[in-house]
Amino acid sequence: MIWTRDLGKSMNNKSQKQIFLEGEGDAWHKRNPEGSFNNNHLYSQILSLPIKSGKDIKILDIGCGTGTFLQLLKKEKGWDLYGLDPSSLSIEKTKKMGINGFTGTADSLPFDDNSFDILLYSFCLYLCDNNDLFKIASEAHRVTKNKSWISIVDFWSGSHKFVPYHHKEGVYTHKFEFFKLFSWHNSYEVFQNEIRDSDKVSYKVIKDEIKNNLSPNDKKNSNNWINITTLRRNDLN
Ligand SMILES: C[S@@+](CC[C@H](N)C(=O)[O-])C[C@H]1O[C@@H](n2cnc3c(N)ncnc32)[C@H](O)[C@@H]1O
Repeated sequence: MIWTRDLGKSMNNKSQKQIFLEGEGDAWHKRNPEGSFNNNHLYSQILSLPIKSGKDIKILDIGCGTGTFLQLLKKEKGWDLYGLDPSSLSIEKTKKMGINGFTGTADSLPFDDNSFDILLYSFCLYLCDNNDLFKIASEAHRVTKNKSWISIVDFWSGSHKFVPYHHKEGVYTHKFEFFKLFSWHNSYEVFQNEIRDSDKVSYKVIKDEIKNNLSPNDKKNSNNWINITTLRRNDLN
């Protein structure tokens, strides 16, 4: 199967979000029933933000998978939790954990305008259709409040890269500095931004240093790098 980058669709004319809604989301869930990603760095970054505890704060995790990350935050902060994922299995599980769960995709959020204080994308955007990225940013902007936060953790590449998704033929993952979906706009400021080696230890380096000084060996290793960024929204008017 050939995937046409420009259309953002596989040759069988399905978008990736359709493929995930029709079973690939559930397939991810079955492979990772307890969640799989190491989100320690995102967790620390979110806990360090100047946000009060308690039910008044509404947080939405887009592509929440098993909901385990929200569950951790609940214990720590007592926030009002919302999760959205194309996998109905994942959403069933999140609801059982007391999280408000919704089946759906990042480009079309079933929430009112100005609803959320915090939005999360944890290893979600790399699976979304390239053509949906404008809609995804627009939906995020619509459902967040002024003076809110958007946190993104995902695979990092300084330039846009497409890589076949090894679990499903015809699906592609992409790497990009996803925070740029927001940071170009005068309402958003990059509050925290770090790149780390997902093989746990070593890297906590400034983005520009990495970009400007990549040695051939680093380029090979950078396949494992993740970018963790939190943006602050503060509207000018
Ligand atoms: C790699 S898992 C990450 C799950 C969880 N956020 C974590 O960090 O462990 C990617 C998740 O994104 C979901 N997903 C895929 N395409 C999506 C889309 N277009 N919108 C929202 N979620 C999507 C998948 O169903 C899956 O649960």
